[in-house]
Amino acid sequence: MTDHEHRPEARDKSRPPETTSRTGPVEIRQAVPDDWRLIRSVRLRALAEDAATFSATLADWSGENDREERWRSRLDPAVSITLVAVAGASPVGMASGIPGQSASSIALVSMWVAPDVRGQGVALSLIRGIESWAATRATELELSVMADNAPAFRLYAKAGFTVDQNRKPDGYDSEITMAKSLEQPA
Ligand SMILES: CC(C)(COP(=O)(O)OP(=O)(O)OC[C@H]1O[C@@H](n2cnc3c(N)ncnc32)[C@H](O)[C@@H]1OP(=O)(O)O)[C@@H](O)C(=O)NCCC(=O)NCCS
Repeated sequence: MTDHEHRPEARDKSRPPETTSRTGPVEIRQAVPDDWRLIRSVRLRALAEDAATFSATLADWSGENDREERWRSRLDPAVSITLVAVAGASPVGMASGIPGQSASSIALVSMWVAPDVRGQGVALSLIRGIESWAATRATELELSVMADNAPAFRLYAKAGFTVDQNRKPDGYDSEITMAKSLEQPA
């Protein structure tokens, strides 16, 4: 078994998983408000390099919208979770879980993995970490994905999400909504 072929049933589900990359181990951990600079750097890179895949824009988080307290409130652990993937000292990916469209759902948002560590299971590990957190407070995980974003659609299908036409997209009509039921913790 290679390091990135996880055995979820053997893992402590309270801890986000770790994966490996060609550039060394990728650690996945929860970002706290004091990590706001780290999250700012990875989120702004994601919005700059992969603008077409997100409903938020670089302008939404730049200029006068680029404020420390805004980044910190995004990382408030009372209402949301942000996981950051780190290789060495560099952030190479992130994903967040925020309140969903109903009281029983959490929305998976802001998924991004840096090009040089793609294809190695980092996104799947981020999803598993968000799922573990979400399962303690909701029964479903939901998301929106651009209809033409085939890599992300396949990622979410592989992670167990199915298309759910009853939900409305969080951004554009060109988005597909998907959801999956969460296994409740024992
Ligand atoms: C989509 C994205 C998050 C995938 O990250 P990743 O770490 O490379 O994904 P993983 O290695 O965990 O891949 C897991 C599965 O996703 C699917 N997948 C990922 N990248 C793919 C690609 N380029 N083409 C087809 N399927 C792909 C595959 O099913 C893959 O499993 P497999 O390798 O066993 O076939 C990454 O490409 C990315 O950040 N893209 C730009 C931003 C984006 O689209 N974000 C999502 C917005 S909704």
